[in-house]
Amino acid sequence: MKYRTLGRTGWNISEISFGAWAIGGAWGDVDDQESLAALHAALDGGVNFFDTADVYGDGRSERLLAQLKKERREKFYVATKAGRRLNPHTADGYNRANLTAFIERSLKNLDTDALDLLQLHCPPTEVYYRPEVFGVLDDLVKAGKLRHYGVSVEKVEEALKAIEYPGVKTVQIIFNMFRQRPAELFFAEAQRRKIGILARVPLASGLLSGKITRESKFAKDDHRLFNRHGEAFDRGETFSGVDFETGLRAVEQLKTLVPEGATLAQLALRWILEFPAVTCAIPGAKRPAQVAENIAASGLAPLSKAAMKKIGAIYDGQIKPLVHQYW
Ligand SMILES: NC(=O)c1ccc[n+]([C@@H]2O[C@H](COP(=O)([O-])OP(=O)(O)OC[C@H]3O[C@@H](n4cnc5c(N)ncnc54)[C@H](OP(=O)(O)O)[C@@H]3O)[C@@H](O)[C@H]2O)c1
Repeated sequence: MKYRTLGRTGWNISEISFGAWAIGGAWGDVDDQESLAALHAALDGGVNFFDTADVYGDGRSERLLAQLKKERREKFYVATKAGRRLNPHTADGYNRANLTAFIERSLKNLDTDALDLLQLHCPPTEVYYRPEVFGVLDDLVKAGKLRHYGVSVEKVEEALKAIEYPGVKTVQIIFNMFRQRPAELFFAEAQRRKIGILARVPLASGLLSGKITRESKFAKDDHRLFNRHGEAFDRGETFSGVDFETGLRAVEQLKTLVPEGATLAQLALRWILEFPAVTCAIPGAKRPAQVAENIAASGLAPLSKAAMKKIGAIYDGQIKPLVHQYW
């Protein structure tokens, strides 16, 4: 495993880290013992950074990470998120009382006195234009409840606005072979300001593993069934917002570019690592075997310029018109 510095936090974190949404819920049935085994496998492979949220399984994901901390001695970092407990999910809800209450709940779930990294959880765009929200987070840092804070965003424009606030140390954004726009403008600006970047949905919800077909069946409580068109939350979070059929066709072309001995999932992760602005990718995983496969991407040789160009051409030709202008 190789490590990169997470912006001005100064932390050295694993370039392949762990996304803990699926072990909380919304991805079909999960078994806590298997999820814990996946978390242990991550630590065994050198992962030292885990991304979760208070709403993943209503705290189940955070509690599994607390359990992991009890069972292991290694130091690892946990990034969690707040805001999505709001119902309705409005900018006004991002106030001192609510944020403080959400954070207190996460502290309990994670069984700790201070959160390593708290991210606003894809708030309404309006929140980025309210300095007082970031002021509340500054106060929570001063009070010792948060070590650092950052944002998880839907859009490049939100990311650019968020990093104007000096307290924002990290940005989590969808970045993968099907979502290339962040590399255009945002990465350069983030590097200039020494912002840590977490590349989420790196496998386009599993589509970029190459295992999903037209015949694949998803459980009723799997967002790949219930949120394909944005019925429950931003449609960009499911298959990166790429139309399913188009995605499958592009995946067939990407398969021809997989380096010998590697898998498409590993190519997808390796592609992300080619961008030095990215601190880490946070693939979600439910099983130890997936974790091991994902971690191995850190050991792959860098991709050739020719391969990068071909991937760019597949994106430009088939995917870009579907996603580029939206996020
Ligand atoms: N708004 C936000 O802030 C937000 C939104 C989305 C995600 N996130 C974060 O980003 C993380 C990653 O995104 P994601 O989990 O949505 O999507 P992802 O990482 O693109 O896809 C994860 C899914 O792909 C499958 N998978 C993983 N490794 C695989 C492998 N080696 N081979 C085949 N299949 C594999 C697994 O599902 P199956 O085994 O069921 O196929 C897994 O749950 C999340 O866990 C979460 O921490 C944050």
